[in-house]
Amino acid sequence: MATNGEQQKQQNQESRHQEVGHKSLLQSDALYQYILETSVYPREPEAMKELRELTAKHPWNIMTTSADEGQFLNMLLKLINAKNTMEIGVYTGYSLLATALAIPEDGKILAMDINRENYELGLPVIQKAGVAHKIEFKEGPALPVLDQMVEDKKNHGAYDFIFVDADKDNYLNYHKRLIDLVKVGGLIGYDNTLWNGSVVAPPDAPLRKYVRYYRDFVLELNKALAADPRIEICMLPVGDGITLCRRVS
Ligand SMILES: C[S@@+](CC[C@H](N)C(=O)[O-])C[C@H]1O[C@@H](n2cnc3c(N)ncnc32)[C@H](O)[C@@H]1O
Repeated sequence: MATNGEQQKQQNQESRHQEVGHKSLLQSDALYQYILETSVYPREPEAMKELRELTAKHPWNIMTTSADEGQFLNMLLKLINAKNTMEIGVYTGYSLLATALAIPEDGKILAMDINRENYELGLPVIQKAGVAHKIEFKEGPALPVLDQMVEDKKNHGAYDFIFVDADKDNYLNYHKRLIDLVKVGGLIGYDNTLWNGSVVAPPDAPLRKYVRYYRDFVLELNKALAADPRIEICMLPVGDGITLCRRVS
């Protein structure tokens, strides 16, 4: 039986968990907190911490990439020596900063979002970190930009890494275009592919409206990725689920 002290400790951990406002599919809040406190926060670059704390005060903070996923992306980009990258869905820029810090001085990120205001909220932190020169931000819906890019053959196979974290109802449309833009051997990462765990919820489960709305799109995407012979895939339960797609042909 847990002592009073242990119960108090667990309660404290759970309330901290809620404060973080993170996304995690782990069943145990305490375990997730352990990951954050043991492995993520002690090694989080100062600028990412500052951006995370700034974002936590924003009303839409639930949209931010979680700190453990930020750490994962940062490591992944270094492992694959990514240089030319793209991000669809920036918000205040936490995953963008994780990317910008991982790629070399002359690396590039084409970053797209329909909302410039949120990007500009995080921009001073990115500038202070000395990595803003790697970013080209385009305001507006990503799909028309991708259409234009696909028309020009010189963009084909130009990207080492593409992170997609935006409108889930368009992921398959993005995939149709991104598969030409990522290089053979390069990676596309689709975020939220376990969509709050709702991918396995029974049809009558009480889901939040936006979770229910996007669930079918996520299910369709997951099926399509699994059946696409042009990629190898790996679905990871990091954050809200991220599916890595390595282009093979
Ligand atoms: C989950 S947030 C991105 C979180 C971000 N990766 C981070 O690390 O904080 C999703 C973002 O997608 C953007 N978005 C929605 N529809 C879009 C579209 N059609 N084209 C580009 N961005 C879009 C939203 O404005 C929002 O900022």
